[in-house]
Amino acid sequence: MATITVSKYKQANDTLRINDLRQGLYDEGAILMDKVLVNLHGDEHRTRRLVESKVFRRDFFRWYEAEVFPKTLKETLAPFQAKGKLDVVDFGFRVMMNLTADFSGVDRPKRTPEETEQLLRILRTFGKAATLGQAKGDKAAIRAEIQAAIDEFDVTFYRSSAERRRGLLARFKKGEIGEDDLPRDILVELLRNEAELPLSHEVLMKEIGFFLLAGAFTSIHSMTHAMHEVFTWMKEHPEDSDLVRKDLSFLQRCMHESMRLHPSSPTAGRRPTCPVHLPTGQDATPDDFVSVDLMAANRDTDVFGPDAAQYNPRRQAPKSTGPYGLSFGMGMHSCIGLNLAAGALPRPDADPKEHQFGTVTLIARALLDAKARPDPSEPGVVDTSTIRNNWAKYPVLLG
Ligand code: HEM
Repeated sequence: MATITVSKYKQANDTLRINDLRQGLYDEGAILMDKVLVNLHGDEHRTRRLVESKVFRRDFFRWYEAEVFPKTLKETLAPFQAKGKLDVVDFGFRVMMNLTADFSGVDRPKRTPEETEQLLRILRTFGKAATLGQAKGDKAAIRAEIQAAIDEFDVTFYRSSAERRRGLLARFKKGEIGEDDLPRDILVELLRNEAELPLSHEVLMKEIGFFLLAGAFTSIHSMTHAMHEVFTWMKEHPEDSDLVRKDLSFLQRCMHESMRLHPSSPTAGRRPTCPVHLPTGQDATPDDFVSVDLMAANRDTDVFGPDAAQYNPRRQAPKSTGPYGLSFGMGMHSCIGLNLAAGALPRPDADPKEHQFGTVTLIARALLDAKARPDPSEPGVVDTSTIRNNWAKYPVLLG
């Protein structure tokens, strides 16, 4: 078995579009991710993605950004404003957990701080499944920890959420309630399509757990990297401080440029389903592993210029790559939550009142409005337990 690495932008882009390459990055995380969307291939993948995509319609994003998210953000920020400080990573978890629980279909009936802490703990443990292949520690111990979290999630959150939705769907079928009375989430869509797309309890439960994870972790770490880049940029370019704080379109550019430099996973992994000729000119067989180096591709100087590895929110990225390059993937597994996290691409003629900025930009704005700045007495700490180099904590002062 050989590992073939693809690092140039165009070749990486074209590799991800080859349908004879199946997902290969999460084989080690099978305990949670075995039959979840990102691990499916061919028809099975297409059918499930089609059903789940129904949740992510454009009007959903607008409604969410305008109506739901600002309230969640304000409520989550308030206690920290009173304290005058927060950890950006922890804050990200608290905001994003509510968001992803809502669109995944995980009820939190008690709404108590204890319930929030319990789901947060489960979510943090699920995160270890996605990075198990990249983990440096004792993998058997990590696997046991993940299994315990899956069991706890199943009994405490998933079963009652599924039961409530089954009840609502039965009433909907009888005409007792309307479409608007059904929650808009992945679990409802999957249960509604059960006859055509039957899934076992185990698979459904893990799919919902995976969505919780896929939506939260990526956004939280992208947002923390971006806050660090923005703080550094404002320090080195004080003349841009006002622009960053007041112009939401510019702040969105700041987020996108950071996403280019810090893809949530530095690599994508694929395995050929049959002999494949790769855009690099190499031949790969089903025994080989194809590693698409997203981080390197997004810093390809032939595409992004000689300063490709530097952070510059004023960069004019080529039209063909967009501002965040391959950070949301490409091809069949490209990110289903792209619009939710990154918003729509800014157009010069866009009406700021109508434009959708994405949750990452909105969280960053809330933090900047609260006058967040790095805490000089407690510098951020990088998580060295995986090769992802995410921030483990990033303390800031407020007010
Ligand atoms: C900044 C935030 C995000 C980043 C950087 C990101 C990145 C990615 C990437 C790179 C992939 C492709 C993986 C591959 O090719 O192997 C992906 C897939 C996926 N993302 Fe995201 N993502 C983000 C936010 C979200 C959100 C908010 C959701 C929740 C709705 C989400 C759900 C998914 C799902 C379900 C897939 C699998 C799609 C499939 O296999 O068909 N992501 N994401």
